[in-house]
Amino acid sequence: MTTIQLTVNGQSKIIESPPMKRLLDVLREDLHLPGAKEGCGEGECGSCSVLMNGDLVNSCLIPILQVEGAEITTIEGVAINERLHPIQQCFLENGGAQCGICTPGMILATCHLLEKYPQPTLLQIQEGLSGNLCRCTGYIRIFNAVQAAALVGAAE
Ligand code: FES
Ligand code: FES
Repeated sequence: MTTIQLTVNGQSKIIESPPMKRLLDVLREDLHLPGAKEGCGEGECGSCSVLMNGDLVNSCLIPILQVEGAEITTIEGVAINERLHPIQQCFLENGGAQCGICTPGMILATCHLLEKYPQPTLLQIQEGLSGNLCRCTGYIRIFNAVQAAALVGAAE
């Protein structure tokens, strides 16, 4: 076991964990944050995406040992108090979520994208979400949701 300090959604956490336990499992099992989902478990689908020090990462690929001192944002940290973040609201209004398995990762990928490109082109949206797979929506509604979020200035 090893002791790891990390910050999750603005709160400092200290956990005891096997050093190679995946960040995804620490979030879900130790910190009781089930928003990040396991799809492939191999870095292919993005359903486990979280932000780590501002970068979009697949939490299924990251041993907790590498997270020492890091700042993690999960989908549970995106809403503003009790209100949906504008990106979440735009996904809701544009039908960007169906079964919801990909949605936490898609939202965090969108946060990351709009931070870099507040008014992205369609190509930038497609590239920005290219690591996140969706088997339900056909992607068009997701792209519409991201464009709507950009229009309302969701990154600001
Ligand atoms: S579960 Fe992590 S990328 Fe698919
Ligand atoms: S909404 Fe079902 S996988 Fe995207």
